[in-house]
Amino acid sequence: MNYEAVLAGLPDAVIAVDTELRVVFWNSAAEVLTERSARRAVGKFLKELLPPDASVIRRLAETLATGESRSEPEGIVERGDHRSVPVGIVTAPLFGRDGSVEAAVAVLRDLSRIRQLEAEVRRGETLAAAGRMAVGLAHEVRNPLGAIRGAVQLLRRELGADSRLTEYTDVLLTEVDRVNRIIEMLVDLARPVQLRPVPLNLHQLFDRVALMSEEAARERGVTIVRRYDPSLPPILGDEDRLLQVFHNLVRNALDSMSRGGHLTLTTRVSLNPLFGRMDLGAGARNMVEAQVADEGAGIPEAVRARIFDPFFTTKDKGLGLGLAICHRILEEHRGAIQVDSAEGQGTVVTCFLPIVK
Ligand SMILES: Nc1ncnc2c1ncn2[C@@H]1O[C@H](COP(=O)(O)OP(=O)(O)OP(=O)(O)O)[C@@H](O)[C@H]1O
Ligand SMILES: [Mg+2]
Repeated sequence: MNYEAVLAGLPDAVIAVDTELRVVFWNSAAEVLTERSARRAVGKFLKELLPPDASVIRRLAETLATGESRSEPEGIVERGDHRSVPVGIVTAPLFGRDGSVEAAVAVLRDLSRIRQLEAEVRRGETLAAAGRMAVGLAHEVRNPLGAIRGAVQLLRRELGADSRLTEYTDVLLTEVDRVNRIIEMLVDLARPVQLRPVPLNLHQLFDRVALMSEEAARERGVTIVRRYDPSLPPILGDEDRLLQVFHNLVRNALDSMSRGGHLTLTTRVSLNPLFGRMDLGAGARNMVEAQVADEGAGIPEAVRARIFDPFFTTKDKGLGLGLAICHRILEEHRGAIQVDSAEGQGTVVTCFLPIVK
């Protein structure tokens, strides 16, 4: 049995060091995790490769000193560009013939995908809780609102068409209708709607959204670019609901580009390790990606965790419901939505949707 090949093929990063903390083994998962090749790592001191205070160095040093195993469920590995990856760390000593510690090995498990899934689940729970509250609220508010609307209409009739006061009743009616629309949207967010999924051509959907947004884009000096995969298979989706998603995403993209730029609509068969194949209840299906990318202001780090919260908005006239609704609709499709953003450079929103079998 070739043990080295087994270690090399392990999905967890395996790093072995001698008593001086010099690297003697670095498998391919370690190369991926640290973004450093084994060729460059082996023979170097670990502290030349990772920050000297890195938890894996500390744990390996402890193991070498004590001959005992160490574990750290919530460690961090810093990559070259200061991005940090959450990892679980376990170390173990390797003993020589005479019983002394000859080396130590660390196994690091990349937790970022698990963290991403956890965030996804939490997001779903927040939305569900907000939705339940909304339905209760809508119930309470709808009836009095209906009464107000009825009374205002009566009042308007009493006042007659030429009354100066109809200006006020008009404002009342418009505003009541606006509150009603907000409530409708909220209820929509909470109620499980019956999807009518049919085979759809994603490019036709994108084309329709692009057409609807043409004027708004021109006003802002934004060029809409289409980057379609010509061999994209049809997807399974609800046409109206998906139009709503793309319309929201395109509006957000346009809002972020006050000084013009490109808005790119991209489609492709997904190769994403996390969302590229998803289980729809009746077995796993391949997914496609429908992407809306802008060159706008981007989303500041501090804001990023909250953008899917209902009513979270940074806009004067925003309701903060757009992304919450998008999330909801993609969940109904058993798909997913992912946002990548760099401040000052732009935002890429990717929707994952199931292919028709
Ligand atoms: N493409 C984007 N570029 C920059 N920021 C974005 C983008 N998309 C969303 N955001 C940020 O996320 C927030 C929430 O977006 P969301 O669509 O849910 O609400 P909104 O656009 O503010 O209001 P609404 O969509 O209800 O009119 C926005 O206020 C904005 O700060
Ligand atoms: Mg929006």
